[in-house]
Amino acid sequence: MGKITIDGRNVEFTDEKNVLSIIRKAGIDVPTLCYQPELSVFGACRMCTVEDDRGRLFASCSEEPRDGMVIFTNTAKLIKYRRKLLELLLAAHDRECTTCERSGDCQLQALANRYGVTDVRFSNYKERVPLDTSSPSIVRDPNKCILCGNCVRVCDELQSVGALGFAERGADATVTPAFQKQIAETDCVNCGQCRVYCPTGAITIKNDIDPVMDALADPTVRVVAQIAPAVRVAVNDAFGLEKGNNAIGKIVSFLKRLGFDEVYDTIFSADLTIMEEAAEFLERVQNGGKLPLLTSCCPAWVKFVGDQFPEFTEHVSTCRSPQGMMSAAVKEYFRDPAKAEGKKTVMVSFMPCTAKKMEAKRPNSFTKGEQDTDYVLTSTELIRMIQMSGISFAKLEDTPADDPFGIGSGGGVIFGVTGGVTEAVIRRLVPDQNPETMKMIAESGVRKDGFIREFSVPYNGMNLNICVASGLANARTVMEQVRSGEKKYHLIEIMACRRGCVYGGGQPRRSAMETTDDRTAGIYKADASMELKKCDFNPAITALYEGFAKGKEHELFHNHMFCAK
Ligand code: FES
Repeated sequence: MGKITIDGRNVEFTDEKNVLSIIRKAGIDVPTLCYQPELSVFGACRMCTVEDDRGRLFASCSEEPRDGMVIFTNTAKLIKYRRKLLELLLAAHDRECTTCERSGDCQLQALANRYGVTDVRFSNYKERVPLDTSSPSIVRDPNKCILCGNCVRVCDELQSVGALGFAERGADATVTPAFQKQIAETDCVNCGQCRVYCPTGAITIKNDIDPVMDALADPTVRVVAQIAPAVRVAVNDAFGLEKGNNAIGKIVSFLKRLGFDEVYDTIFSADLTIMEEAAEFLERVQNGGKLPLLTSCCPAWVKFVGDQFPEFTEHVSTCRSPQGMMSAAVKEYFRDPAKAEGKKTVMVSFMPCTAKKMEAKRPNSFTKGEQDTDYVLTSTELIRMIQMSGISFAKLEDTPADDPFGIGSGGGVIFGVTGGVTEAVIRRLVPDQNPETMKMIAESGVRKDGFIREFSVPYNGMNLNICVASGLANARTVMEQVRSGEKKYHLIEIMACRRGCVYGGGQPRRSAMETTDDRTAGIYKADASMELKKCDFNPAITALYEGFAKGKEHELFHNHMFCAK
């Protein structure tokens, strides 16, 4: 508790851990590159440096506030200091900015513009090294790394994977997997959180736009899209529409204008996932099967279990993810020659997730030996496609998704947030979708705060113990407690990314200044606006089970996904 003077104004502080947080509370955007509120303080970039009343410069992110401090954030000395820092960073950085994947969305480039760095007086002293393109999900370009350490800390502290680290010292320092391996040779789970926290183009999404555009230009091909729940709120945000709105109707319109033959909604197959997963869960509960059941929608989590907790692989649900179920159903539907009309089907999914690119290529998720999802594009790639097209996204009308895979319930929409899969499973277990029942489920504990949520729900005279966690470091905590016998659950839902898919590795980045959770609120708002709340009331699901999928449920909707490698 106390008061500090910032640029001549008194600002009170309470429990802020560093001076930077108080400066930001006062509405001043002091630049940062290595500070992330959810990570440990690294203090490497020095961009957050401020000046005190004795002319001393210090990094505000690593300075504890003291009552009576007097600081300045924008003096002539500081501006020169920050410019010099930027010049030094640029001197060790590949400056092919115009052709960089992150051009226009790079924090280093933005700061160079902001501080008017129009010339770099030092020549680049770093030797060019090859890119690491070994991963199906991300590309590492060490030539653009500024050694902020964000990727190293997020992989270690938030995800407990530790696929990246520092090697060498001084001017030779570099970020790399251990023993200079390629990223695909490590335990990387493809979650893409390193890319979310990277301030430059050193880690980017593997771009799959071109082959999709080629398929759209091919008259012998039927190009089919599916759109995941979390995409609709992120794309909405990116075009400056009211935060938290559901832009699914505009996305469908855009994809139709681009030439997609069919556009389906992944909330349909999220409903299908719940039908299958709830049945599997009850079967295990009633017949003494492997418990806890571990959810299988998140491919990064599935890979994490296989790598880190192999003794639990049989606990992982055999259900494919909503992406996998939709693609398998669509491909099977168009195998009927009458529907195929002589065209080959190419399935494109729009996902908030980089790990879905890996999932699509996993041979053990194929049907009849064929890759079901041909291309996975992230929300970020979809935004790029919209920008390239020149179409005004805000002016697009709303178009509904196509039948027969276009209808989904609110339970399918909430897959986009942590706890959503579990909430949809509980909805499946109750007989009605009355507002009071839905409210009771929402208040059961599944939506409470925190990255690890534990609660129980009554079912048929027993209490089902449930754990919902997001972020793989939290998943590790949960699984170690289960392994030691300290905790016992019937069901564990894990999403690899904190807060769930709305903050997935393929979503547009959020700046550290933004702390509101409007994407989550947007998903719940979309659910609240829907009349259909639960999967077993979805007429399209009933039609699927009674139609072409009859007798093929296991072949199309299940596999042994824990064989992730
Ligand atoms: Fe404070 Fe990098 S943001 S040192």
